[in-house]
Amino acid sequence: MRSPIIAGNWKMNKTVDEAVEFVDQIKNDLPDPKVQETILAAPTIALVPMVKATAGTPLKITAENCYYKDAGAYTGETSPTSLYSAGVHHVILGHSERRQLFNETDELINLKVHAALDAGLCPIVCCDDTMGRRVAGKKVHWVVSRILADLKDLKPENVNKVVIAYEPSWAIGTGESMDPAEAEEGCYLIRQTIADMYGEETADQMRILYGGSVNTQNVNKLMASQDIDGILAGGASLDPVTFLKLVNH
Ligand code: G3H
Repeated sequence: MRSPIIAGNWKMNKTVDEAVEFVDQIKNDLPDPKVQETILAAPTIALVPMVKATAGTPLKITAENCYYKDAGAYTGETSPTSLYSAGVHHVILGHSERRQLFNETDELINLKVHAALDAGLCPIVCCDDTMGRRVAGKKVHWVVSRILADLKDLKPENVNKVVIAYEPSWAIGTGESMDPAEAEEGCYLIRQTIADMYGEETADQMRILYGGSVNTQNVNKLMASQDIDGILAGGASLDPVTFLKLVNH
């Protein structure tokens, strides 16, 4: 039985004061994390104040990125170990915005996934998809090659600490969500790929989220799908009332 996850990703939005005010508004209205996890990813500068403001509540504060080294001459980067020691639970890695705007490759994302796990963080690995990416005459789908590369060579005991977010690029921030049946197909394909890599049992336990224009209207249909274990919401996570509606859908 996979416990569902409702996750928000603020991207580069909200000041530190706004972030703390937001979590103060929602932190007492969240479900028991054993029943459903609630995760909020925020800009790095807001993480420590958010962790402090939500201590003892079910809300898991999450980074939006990290580097693959723990310390050293890497100006401007964030150490996974320092995130973990500050009380951060998860880190989003491989978001399509990082791939497109900051040229992150599958190889780099794989290094970051390993480093995050070694530091104690749970990576939320984003797997984008583009319309018409199925390669004619070949069995390898874009999504499959992403998963094979990004989750390569993980220690078996670490694989189920990873959460995957299936996010078709064209659905991100456009208001045009993927049809739930197609979203289910993408998540199923990802689960099959995990089964090929790490076995059926691990694949059955893996949490796979859908992201891309999730809102209060479509969340129920998406969450009803067998292989969709949760959602990663961008725009709809920015307002506390709307985010709570997603959480308590
Ligand atoms: O990480 C979240 C996704 O990029 C989805 O963003 O809900 O604004 O489409 P969106």
